[in-house]
Amino acid sequence: MNIPNNVKELILKRKEKFVNDKNLQLIGKPGYSSPDEHILPDALTSLVLHKNVLLKGPTGAGKTKLAESLSAEVGQPMHSINCSVDLDAEALLGFKTLVEKEGNTTIQFVEGPVIQAMKNGHLLYIDEINMAKPETLPILNGVLDYRRTITNPFTGEVIKAAEGFTVIAAINEGYVGTVPLNEALKNRFIVIDVPYIQGSILEGVLKSQSSLSDGDLIKSFVQLSEDLVTQVRNGQIPEEAASVRALIDTCDLAVFMPPMRAIQRGIIDKVEDEREKAAIRNIAETIFG
Ligand SMILES: Nc1ncnc2c1ncn2[C@@H]1O[C@H](COP(=O)(O)OP(=O)(O)O)[C@@H](O)[C@H]1O
Ligand SMILES: [Mg+2]
Repeated sequence: MNIPNNVKELILKRKEKFVNDKNLQLIGKPGYSSPDEHILPDALTSLVLHKNVLLKGPTGAGKTKLAESLSAEVGQPMHSINCSVDLDAEALLGFKTLVEKEGNTTIQFVEGPVIQAMKNGHLLYIDEINMAKPETLPILNGVLDYRRTITNPFTGEVIKAAEGFTVIAAINEGYVGTVPLNEALKNRFIVIDVPYIQGSILEGVLKSQSSLSDGDLIKSFVQLSEDLVTQVRNGQIPEEAASVRALIDTCDLAVFMPPMRAIQRGIIDKVEDEREKAAIRNIAETIFG
């Protein structure tokens, strides 16, 4: 990876800050394979400059994997929120609970991921941020801009983020069920496009992350992916048909069943439209038929 020296210094500085952190188990696992030489270094550069980083790309393109790898590269613990689940202020900030102590009942506030990340100067990963309910995101405005501050509505506490606090968010723009991210919000991020990996990089990921070991079969699946991506570009099939996640699942199945049936279960049957299904089946049959 080609990282400028001045960025390397900033990475080292950040690493040092967390060597004795009590939350080392929250550091992500590395393993993101970059489709080009700039994605990882540019995301890292933004991160060590304390810029919010927005990873933008289709489902199964490795956005979460990239976020975890960024956490690993800078050795910084990361708290995660997934916006596709029912997300309210409590899920973000925390909640009040009753605790028994020496016969007395007191109210205690259990800090949620946003508060924890801010107080500890950790990373905050907000997955599928454009799936969040519209009333949820404004809570984060002050967190994302230069103020880096939030007033906890449950306790009245004003929290100013500790140094190092940085937000990584992921969006899946264009995907069904998502709304385009509000411009004001998008404006607060550096955007890193995360496309599907292809060719030898995809081959490496299939070899290391699926249980398929037949090299020729893996090559055929890489070819399938390339043809699927071409048809995505032509508007013939939906983008998620080329998901790397779905392809890994398909390869796992293909260890135990004929490839066409694995493709049926892993890729084709996730698509609703009959014409799109037929298009994917045709592509697959020319390779595996
Ligand atoms: N570029 C990549 N490098 C390494 N693994 C990848 C890559 N793209 C996808 N994967 C793998 O595919 C699966 C889906 O990736 P994930 O990060 O969850 O995608 P996303 O968050 O974009 O939906 C994971 O198992 C991940 O390890
Ligand atoms: Mg994800």
